[in-house]
Amino acid sequence: MRVLLFKTLRVFSELNLQADFENHKIFTMSKKYYIKTFGCQMNFNDSERLRGILKTMGYEPTEDWKEADLIVLNTCTIREKPDQKVLSHLGEYRKIKEKNPEALIAVSGCLAQRMGWELVQKAPAVDIMFSSFNMHQLPELVNQAQAGYRAVAILEEPPEDEDRLWDFPTERDNPYCAYVTVIKGCDKNCTYCVVPFTRGRERSRPLESILAEVKTLVEDGVREVHLLGQNVTAWGKDLGLSEGFALLLRKVAEIDGVERIRFTTGHPLDLSDEIIEAMAEIPQVCDALHLPFQSGSDRILEMMDRGYTKDFYIGRIEKLREKIDTIALSTDVIVGFPGETEEDFKETLDLIARVRFEQIFSFKFSPRPGTPASEMENQVPDDVKTRRMSQLLALQKSIMGEIAREYEGSVQEVLVEEGRGDGTYIGRTTTNRWVSLQGNDKLLGRIVKVKVKRSSPFNMDGELLEVLR
Ligand code: 5AD
Ligand code: SF4
Repeated sequence: MRVLLFKTLRVFSELNLQADFENHKIFTMSKKYYIKTFGCQMNFNDSERLRGILKTMGYEPTEDWKEADLIVLNTCTIREKPDQKVLSHLGEYRKIKEKNPEALIAVSGCLAQRMGWELVQKAPAVDIMFSSFNMHQLPELVNQAQAGYRAVAILEEPPEDEDRLWDFPTERDNPYCAYVTVIKGCDKNCTYCVVPFTRGRERSRPLESILAEVKTLVEDGVREVHLLGQNVTAWGKDLGLSEGFALLLRKVAEIDGVERIRFTTGHPLDLSDEIIEAMAEIPQVCDALHLPFQSGSDRILEMMDRGYTKDFYIGRIEKLREKIDTIALSTDVIVGFPGETEEDFKETLDLIARVRFEQIFSFKFSPRPGTPASEMENQVPDDVKTRRMSQLLALQKSIMGEIAREYEGSVQEVLVEEGRGDGTYIGRTTTNRWVSLQGNDKLLGRIVKVKVKRSSPFNMDGELLEVLR
């Protein structure tokens, strides 16, 4: 295990941590934290956990970083852009020390993991750094930093007590929909992707721990749980369960009060028939699936080491639609992977036209240090990536316009999540589309039947027909 730390890193025994944790409660009363999150839903949920940890330590949140005693940047490094964003924010936040020399700056998440020591050298204002593996050690690290040490604990591998993280609560803003991380890491090694380096190998969270959190959330008023993982469909494999994720879906659905279940992100290779069956059979599983395809060209898919072909992907979609005909699909795609020709790109457009996704997240290939694809020959020039991207977006725009029109006049079940203060309420359909409707506060957290009056690619206006549950 590689542990980087200025001056010292104490061995974290359970007892020490607890003791420090208790002290912390006393010394950090009424201090304020500001947290800035970059990246994916996993990172977002990690930040919810960090907020829970900080609350337990006696910290209160502030919306203004200039007021904070502790600034936490939970970072992403999936592409070059998030890297740059983090570094520019760090440049801004370091000014806090001019006003409050005692203020601490902490950096966690994937960029911290990838850059390690280099980040501290680039940004000397950083006081605390830790991996996504050891978020539960935040109280100890804050203690060290307050004692004048620079506390950098970037671990090469997850520590044995990683699951202690689940003992901490999360702090959430949405009272009705909650993320629940069920698996960490990824075993897939796609040649473009930095995640296996930053998040480690797949580690499924124990079933009891997941179910206990879901029960607590439901008792707290949550109606929709969103199961999260870099490769959520692989849940249970490392626990020796071959059809683990289908089992997990059934177990979560058995909990009284769980009205809706979503999950992100699935991998086409792990989306087994059993999972599709479970999705079709369990009424609470939403009619939406995010299933990245990345490229429509078999040649590029092989260079990406995705492990499937275009036909395999389309076969999975056909199977899904055969079982759940209303399912709404979303996906991720990369344009301009090294060596991508016009022919390869046409295969991507062809897949998009055939599947007709409701939403596409498209990215220009971004070479990530240490990944095989960053060293491949025939890197695609940026102007070609830009042109292909706009072609792709134009195609997708027309598909989204068509799909939007198909919604008009339909009746949808909507979970009402938020009021806008002017009698307008918003919620999502089971297919993950936002709908606005007129109503009152009694609708909050309720699943209602709505007739869609007007629909555009990103939102719809509906008329309330009836409150269902
Ligand atoms: N360049 C561009 N896009 C990437 N993604 C992952 N790595 C890269 C990269 N190096 C995209 C993939 C993934 C999404 C989260 O980000 O499409 O599914
Ligand atoms: Fe970014 Fe990937 Fe880390 Fe999520 S797992 S924060 S997308 S690098």
